[in-house]
Amino acid sequence: MNQQQLKELLAQMSLEEKIGQLVQLPAYFQNGGTITGPAGDLGLTQEDLSLAGSYLSVIGAEKTRTLQEEYTAAHPHHIPLIFMDDIINGYRTVFPVPLAQGCTFNPDLVQQGASVAAKEAAASGVHVTFSPMADLVRDARWGRVMESTGEDAYLNGLMAAAMVRGYQGDLKEKGTIAGCLKHFAGYGAPEGGRDYANVELSLRTLKEDYLPAYKAAIDAGVAMVMTSFNTLDRVPSTANKWLMRDILRDEMGFDGALISDWGAVGELVPHGVAQDFAQAAQLAIEAGVDMDMVSPSYAKHLKTLVEEGKVDEKLIDESCMRMLELKNKLGLFENPFRDAAKEDEDALLLCEEHRKAAQDCAEKSFVLLKNEENMLPLRSGQEKVAFIGPFVNNKFLCGSWAIFSDDQDTVALKDALEKQESDSCISFAAGSRVMDGDGVVQGFQKQIPEETLDEEFALSQAIEMARGADKVVLALGEHREFSGEASSRGSLTLPRCQQRLLDEVAKVNQNITVVLFCGRPMDLRDVHNKAKAILVAWFPGTEGGPALARTLYGHCAPQGKLSMAFPFSVSQLPLHYNQLSTGRPFHGDYKAARFGSKYQDMPRFPLYPFGFGLSYTTFSCSPVTLDKAVLTKDSSIKARVSVKNTGNAEGTETVQLYIRDMVGSVARPVRELKGFRQVTLQPGEEKEVCFEITEDMLRFWDIHMNYVSEPGEFQLFIGTDSTTENKASFTLEA
Ligand code: GLC
Repeated sequence: MNQQQLKELLAQMSLEEKIGQLVQLPAYFQNGGTITGPAGDLGLTQEDLSLAGSYLSVIGAEKTRTLQEEYTAAHPHHIPLIFMDDIINGYRTVFPVPLAQGCTFNPDLVQQGASVAAKEAAASGVHVTFSPMADLVRDARWGRVMESTGEDAYLNGLMAAAMVRGYQGDLKEKGTIAGCLKHFAGYGAPEGGRDYANVELSLRTLKEDYLPAYKAAIDAGVAMVMTSFNTLDRVPSTANKWLMRDILRDEMGFDGALISDWGAVGELVPHGVAQDFAQAAQLAIEAGVDMDMVSPSYAKHLKTLVEEGKVDEKLIDESCMRMLELKNKLGLFENPFRDAAKEDEDALLLCEEHRKAAQDCAEKSFVLLKNEENMLPLRSGQEKVAFIGPFVNNKFLCGSWAIFSDDQDTVALKDALEKQESDSCISFAAGSRVMDGDGVVQGFQKQIPEETLDEEFALSQAIEMARGADKVVLALGEHREFSGEASSRGSLTLPRCQQRLLDEVAKVNQNITVVLFCGRPMDLRDVHNKAKAILVAWFPGTEGGPALARTLYGHCAPQGKLSMAFPFSVSQLPLHYNQLSTGRPFHGDYKAARFGSKYQDMPRFPLYPFGFGLSYTTFSCSPVTLDKAVLTKDSSIKARVSVKNTGNAEGTETVQLYIRDMVGSVARPVRELKGFRQVTLQPGEEKEVCFEITEDMLRFWDIHMNYVSEPGEFQLFIGTDSTTENKASFTLEA
């Protein structure tokens, strides 16, 4: 349809029909689907159901085609449904969780993963995914750090834009789906790290740190945006007219559809800004929220609000038009079934090509934090290795948002090792449960299976196995339901049962490698003291087992870099590398001085910083050279280093560029990531890495809230993580 035809259609629609287009219902109204939020019957009538414009979590070529055929035939103007789903890190072939994908520092790879997810989901009748999640995160207590790509706005922006390109391509093409940017805005900074809690951000911090990644996704053409559950300046986002109209639409230029989060319109009542669902509906539609996801507010109250003159029907028309435009972008008026096709589903889902892509992404997402005495890589056939831990023979490796996958499709580490290392002397033992008996109370997506392990026997068996091995690989971590939505934690340590396993094994064998499965940075102080090597696997997805087996035995080398720091302790949170200097900056031994921004009883810096990650080789970076020392608005500076592989294995290094504005009209971060390059080098090989510095990279929100650069001195750092002191200075001239 063209715009004129859409306008004519809108003009023919009744008020009930137009309101129906603003309502999204959960799949359980169609006897199926997954529940991703508080459920209930919503008190809707059959007419409400028949006029609803969208379903959430309905999947499957046959299911969606049948529902679409019935619905479109019965609809007064035959307007097709739009099917939306949470495809966060893959559809049926599951990729590493987004926090792990951030560690690849490879937007092209992330784009490829999104494209695979889109091909599979489109064949299953999905039209929109609720991804990318571009929330900046600085607090690992918040379980949804798992869904983000980390603590840096610049990296998050690159990753969010890559996902949009991967999902959407050109939406007229087959095998694409619309993306939905979320959660607008600032959801990643809840008080206490508690999900859904209040967010306190100054306007400058909101604009400086939290909005840029959303902006990158909008500039990449994301088709939809989702409101966030939190309050910002004590206004719930879903009722925040300033945030949604002045900022999102007018200032950031978003002109697509805006959907609430699950039930968030109705939740304006418990937020205490709406007396009832009627007032909630009024606040949300006035804020410009086009679609009400799984709350009865729009369906039950908008008609009356219009008839009573409390809501201008023009607002309904505006939102209805944006939903019709989204359906039109997807070509649903011409072809309501779009790409839904059983034969494509059968050919694409979990196909070899997709599994390989998932494995490749997993291999590049692993982060090697420690590797003393060359504990890794393991030497195939030359040493006895005991693989011990509750994640050795565990298929729950896809994270809590892999809601459309089947855990039976996942290849466990044990299976991969038995296949790859058939000639090696390897042994396996669980050693402990995943969780303590008093573990997490409720699963988010899939109920947590009861663990029936005989703990004492398992532990004694593991200890004996460790005693007789040359090396031990301990596969430890947190249950997948410990991260994701509604999964905040007050502690970041391993479960007690796993800690005991580590303690007991360390008493009989010191050659320990810990492979950590997690959806968030954890407190690894004790692991650091007891293990000679630490490899973070995150939740690596369907092919996590083979990816790990290949990495542990050196068929590929780790190259990931932390997209979010591992704190020394949960007490340091929130924590981020690009902090302000403060009037009493502090470095060095916290016991050695008093007056500084630090703690009396522990270091103030993370155990493992943003951008950190080792390989199986070593690299050196030459001092930074600049081709000039003065920058003007219409010139550029070239900053160069020479990177050399100083070890004896091939490796890939991610060389990072940070810049510090030494004096600004407001306090400026001690450094900010402004670029990175990946170089793969053979032993002894050396390559030059060059970054071009331009004035626009130096802009920020100044004392007058103008987005400008200011003349003065800058330092730039080029190195292999955010703590590098390999630096040079330059001046920006007016
Ligand atoms: C959930 C999440 C959101 C998700 C939506 C639909 O509550 O907050 O990220 O896309 O509801 O499942």
